[in-house]
Amino acid sequence: MSKKASIGVTGLAVMGRNLARNLARHGHTVALHNRSEERTRSLVEQFGDEGDFIPAYSAQEFVDALERPRQIVIMVKAGGPTDAVIEEFAPLLEPGDVIVDAGNAHFADTRRREQALRERGLHFVGTGVSGGEEGALHGPSIMPGGSKESYESLGPLFEDISAKVDGEPCCTHVGADGAGHFVKMVHNGIEYADMQLIAESFDLLRGAAGYSPAEIADVFGTWNTGRLDSYLIEITAQVLKHVDGASGKPFVDVVEDAAEQKGTGRWTVQIGLDLGVPISGIAEAVFARSLSGSTGLRSAARGLGGPTRTPLTGSALETFADDVEQALYASKVVAYAQGFNQIQAGAAEYGWDIDLGRVAAIWRGGCIIRAKFLNDITSAYAAEPGLPTLLTSGGFRKAVEDAQDSWRSVISTAVRLGIPTPGFSTALAYYDGLRADRLPAALVQGQRDFFGAHTYRRVDRPGSFHTLWAGDQSEVEA
Ligand SMILES: NC(=O)c1ccc[n+]([C@@H]2O[C@H](COP(=O)([O-])OP(=O)(O)OC[C@H]3O[C@@H](n4cnc5c(N)ncnc54)[C@H](OP(=O)(O)O)[C@@H]3O)[C@@H](O)[C@H]2O)c1
Repeated sequence: MSKKASIGVTGLAVMGRNLARNLARHGHTVALHNRSEERTRSLVEQFGDEGDFIPAYSAQEFVDALERPRQIVIMVKAGGPTDAVIEEFAPLLEPGDVIVDAGNAHFADTRRREQALRERGLHFVGTGVSGGEEGALHGPSIMPGGSKESYESLGPLFEDISAKVDGEPCCTHVGADGAGHFVKMVHNGIEYADMQLIAESFDLLRGAAGYSPAEIADVFGTWNTGRLDSYLIEITAQVLKHVDGASGKPFVDVVEDAAEQKGTGRWTVQIGLDLGVPISGIAEAVFARSLSGSTGLRSAARGLGGPTRTPLTGSALETFADDVEQALYASKVVAYAQGFNQIQAGAAEYGWDIDLGRVAAIWRGGCIIRAKFLNDITSAYAAEPGLPTLLTSGGFRKAVEDAQDSWRSVISTAVRLGIPTPGFSTALAYYDGLRADRLPAALVQGQRDFFGAHTYRRVDRPGSFHTLWAGDQSEVEA
């Protein structure tokens, strides 16, 4: 009998091809399939010597090449194509076989698919994969959902090919059905927030302190040796250092300032709204990209009045880079705290048992937000598993309290000079809102009761109440 493959990959564009190569390089025999045959042929031609591949040119051939229970990884364009591929393979599979969707699916689609396939006796494992094409080849962060049973066979393979940090694989069974894709979605949302905060730091250092992109690259390089040590800070320094070959100008000055998005940030915000979780850092980052891309609106508004940008001087200038570092760190803690609260809320809503400390641990390597900082998040949840927010955990609490003066002064400077800092500002507003003894929400409740008889609760006794606003203004129990 000919040798069978322990896993198969269908969808061999850049991500699928690299994931298949990664599996083969780790000694696993991989069956290969793609809708159009050319991608399968070229993978074997170019990389066939990297490991054991079994190319298949029909769905049946692909399924027949797999050991039982069969494990098929789908890596195709998310949406309709994923459903089409599932429908192509599911009828050829047997109870106990596993279909993995490693594309960027919406977790609600994953829940729907998991339920439908479970009824047919098949395991469906929606899996978040982060790290882009390089990650897929050299070790991504992998976030599988689906049943615990499916993880028993898939887990060792995925842990094998994932990134490793301190010898630990950046892969864990996140939770049932759509939990993996949910966590990947929030990862991407946090990535948006982190990138926006870094971009605002650059804008401040340039607009308020007058530093050049190359000087700012050096500032980021220094920050990367401290508590902000992360992939995003590292690549920011490299991008800022880069000089455009054609014009000789800083690269950052020849790129159009309209940021694009593929949609996972938007999903994160939509789900945040559905769950009622304030993830304002992610939302402002998504809106900031939308604003940057509103070119018509921006050209209509260009020239609207604002303050004169007088760069900082003296001691304010001397301490400014350090102040921005403090503001960036504090705002980043807020953005991550909000993202982890969203995962907590999703877990409660959908019945997932998600270990938040493990999530932070598997984001330490392979993915875009990989950072030293994530170790501190793991430690925070280890010390206090029911932690309500990262902001109240020992180390983060102290760091954010210590950052107060700088954080507030940087935002004041931004407001005074007219430099937009939606990420920094919303982070501070969230922090002040959380720590407030009283919020003006009491007045909002009064307004709601006035125009809509929506009732309110009192601070001094239980029950719901309504004031007869149009009558004698007496209070009645609702
Ligand atoms: N690129 C990244 O950095 C990245 C990172 C993480 C996750 N992802 C996710 O990974 C998945 C794959 O990404 P990618 O960039 O490698 O590829 P992609 O451009 O999203 O999709 C191309 C692949 O999908 C196949 N396909 C499209 N429609 C199909 C259909 N109706 N039936 C069967 N196959 C179909 C194509 O087959 P043909 O060759 O026959 O056209 C090709 O193999 C996506 O879900 C993506 O969102 C990507």
